[in-house]
Amino acid sequence: MTESLSLTRAARLIGVNRAELQRKIKRGEMISHDGMISVGNLLACYPDAQLEDTAETRRIAQIKEKAFGKRVFERALPEPEVLAARITELGKTLASSQAQVDRFKELLSKLWDKLNSTPDISIAELQKWLEQEVELATEPGFINPLAIKDNILRVMTAQVTILPSKHDFMVEGHDSLLEAAMRSGIPLSYGCSSGNCGLCKAKIVSGEVRKTRNHDYPIPEAEKNAGYVLLCSNTAVSDLVIEAPVAESVQDIPFQQIEAHVKAIGHINDDILLLHLQTPRTKRLRFLAGQGVTLKLGQSFSALQAIASCPCDDRNLLFHIHRQPGNLFSDYAFNKLKTHEVVEIEGPQGECILHEKSAQPLFFFALDCGFAPIKSLIEHALSLEVEEIQLHWIGSSRQHIYLPNIAHAWDDALDNFRYQEHIAGFDLRHMNSNREEALIKLLQDIQIADTSMLLGDIYIAGPDEAVTVAERFFLEYGLPKTRVSVSRVK
Ligand code: FES
Repeated sequence: MTESLSLTRAARLIGVNRAELQRKIKRGEMISHDGMISVGNLLACYPDAQLEDTAETRRIAQIKEKAFGKRVFERALPEPEVLAARITELGKTLASSQAQVDRFKELLSKLWDKLNSTPDISIAELQKWLEQEVELATEPGFINPLAIKDNILRVMTAQVTILPSKHDFMVEGHDSLLEAAMRSGIPLSYGCSSGNCGLCKAKIVSGEVRKTRNHDYPIPEAEKNAGYVLLCSNTAVSDLVIEAPVAESVQDIPFQQIEAHVKAIGHINDDILLLHLQTPRTKRLRFLAGQGVTLKLGQSFSALQAIASCPCDDRNLLFHIHRQPGNLFSDYAFNKLKTHEVVEIEGPQGECILHEKSAQPLFFFALDCGFAPIKSLIEHALSLEVEEIQLHWIGSSRQHIYLPNIAHAWDDALDNFRYQEHIAGFDLRHMNSNREEALIKLLQDIQIADTSMLLGDIYIAGPDEAVTVAERFFLEYGLPKTRVSVSRVK
């Protein structure tokens, strides 16, 4: 087993999320060097780490089921339980052999020290010493349970490290490298997702890949020999190090024009429509969480709308459309738009994106329908396993907190997530001096109840005037502009 583990792999082995390990590192309970944790350290923090992990066994069975075509499975492979048991046995044998190799390595280094420290040792003495040491080294001894689990995990998943950004992610089942990276919230460069555009071309620095589909995009022979592959058409056979560009700012995402179709329309309540658009399989929208796009409906009704879904599902785009009587776009969306209708998408736009490199806790303020971009940002933060997330949803009225179940579900399911609702009692779209005062008082109460907020990164989204008040509130507390990000929603 490798001496040092990345945070992602260590979390997998122990069965906790990265945030828990990050918390331990921060509290000084676990030592990490350059983002890596030693196995010894991990075992010291989790002495009860066991092989008999039924959740892991179940997960392995699920991955296996997905990973193999049914016919191949029936013809060539034993029952899933038998296969899982055999892999477990192989993992034990491998771990035992590795432990033995480690002990002999240690013996060699002891021998070297002995010869240096006692140069006049006789052959007979040396022989006796060696016999004792070899006996100790070949005794059946402690086998690290993590080594066994790691061997099993390596059969089912592979870890990919991206250079130069140092992002890492796991590839499971039959995911392509591109799909696995997107599931982990890493915005690699890509276009069609189907082997036509070549935008996902990347260099394999070490490790082995396997082609999962033939592609039309021709990679020149010289590049093939240098290790270039398409990430959308290959999966990992072993752990990989790859060289690939990762989008870090909105400037890294190209402007796109796509014809999507309406997959579903649903009324969340009388004033808010949930619009689900689906892009063609070969032309997906590349965007960063928190951004929006211009939607063109009917003949010429267009509006900038925040995307309310995660970039990890780039084919299925969700929007929360607000009813605005007299507004042609809103009227068309509420009264005429039908499923299967074509909607033109242009974009993405917007600068309020997650600062991935920041290590601060995240505080999100959704004002009314500002929940749309905030939802996308939070889903992205969750895929990155951010350490601590708080969401405060401030509604003009109870009706304006229109999808509380989603926020409550995050709060219930995640240890690192907290959610609170607040009712302003006035229309946040139309502010005056009394309303400003009331909103500032509300923000003050929230901040006093949790003073750690001023140490975090603040994200605010909602109607223009209310967002301006909230932004000013945090800036006046001395937070730098780089830690207060805002998105103004129509
Ligand atoms: S994304 Fe177009 S070829 Fe891979």
